[in-house]
Amino acid sequence: MKVVLTGSKPTGTPHLGNYLGMIRPALELAERDEVLCFIADYHALTTLTRGEKVRDLTYQAAATWIALGLDPKKMTLYRQSDVPEVCELAWILACSTSKGLLNRAHAYKAAVAANRLRGRDADTAVNAGLYYYPVLMAADILLPAADLVPVGLDQRQHVEFARDIAGHFNSVYGPILTIPEPLIDERVATVPGIDGRKMSKSYDNVIPLLAPPEQLRKSVMGIVTDSRTSDQPKDPDTDVIFQIYRQIAPDEAVERMQTGLRRGGMGYARTKEDLFTVLVERFAGARKRYRELLPDRPELDRLLLEGAKRVRARAVPVLARVREAVIGEP
Ligand code: TRP
Repeated sequence: MKVVLTGSKPTGTPHLGNYLGMIRPALELAERDEVLCFIADYHALTTLTRGEKVRDLTYQAAATWIALGLDPKKMTLYRQSDVPEVCELAWILACSTSKGLLNRAHAYKAAVAANRLRGRDADTAVNAGLYYYPVLMAADILLPAADLVPVGLDQRQHVEFARDIAGHFNSVYGPILTIPEPLIDERVATVPGIDGRKMSKSYDNVIPLLAPPEQLRKSVMGIVTDSRTSDQPKDPDTDVIFQIYRQIAPDEAVERMQTGLRRGGMGYARTKEDLFTVLVERFAGARKRYRELLPDRPELDRLLLEGAKRVRARAVPVLARVREAVIGEP
């Protein structure tokens, strides 16, 4: 059985892209592998400075996972900050990681490029946490000795960094860390958001998943379309509504929409309505469970702490070997 690790940063309300890109694949993998899911609240500190907000979003993420079917008996759900060994390992790893590697991180490079474009100093408003982010992420992955890390394309480099960091550590200290592999789900690499770009909270183009139906309707109706009329044929491969619909609707319904678009006679009002309906129906049970769970923070804490206990049982021996290697502790 492989150990699969999946994490998300609590910086926004969970959306359909999170479900398709991360939650659904993790639930599927849990049928045969050991799956660890965590909420990376320490990573969120590179952008969020209000503790209350971090906490609210962390509970939203936890309630979302459980509402969508994570069974805490079969899978391990935990909060990063409940596993202090992560930070300890991150520092140790930082000391055998070359600074040049971190200079090449996409997120850091993008921040520098944006500053240059505005004629500012390269590191203006770049906190050291943003720079160090890939090291903390490597520690998340290496501490419980994960074999597989399912991620979207945007996170691939981070997993590759974790491999490099582990490989270098092992070359200095011996074969202690497990080298992880990224797992990219090709089906969902490109779920578009309501403006046609990749669905992402940083583009503010997401479809909220477990929000009340009125809010969901607003978001679906806001999908940007062109001015073609209902009669005009449309290409399903480039149609944003269809690209989202095909991820969640039953096969026959997907085929029906696909044929209708190609043939003509299927307008955007109709396809939006179909998408809205399938979103409401498919997640009705999850929406209800979410509403019940979210206010029950003691229960969510209980589940998260239980998960942290389990992952720490895996982590403590790994960290002990690492400490022994780097500072000679028996
Ligand atoms: N960087 C990831 C994101 O932005 C979150 C994350 C942190 C993560 N640590 C991880 C993902 C470890 C997978 C494994 O979504």
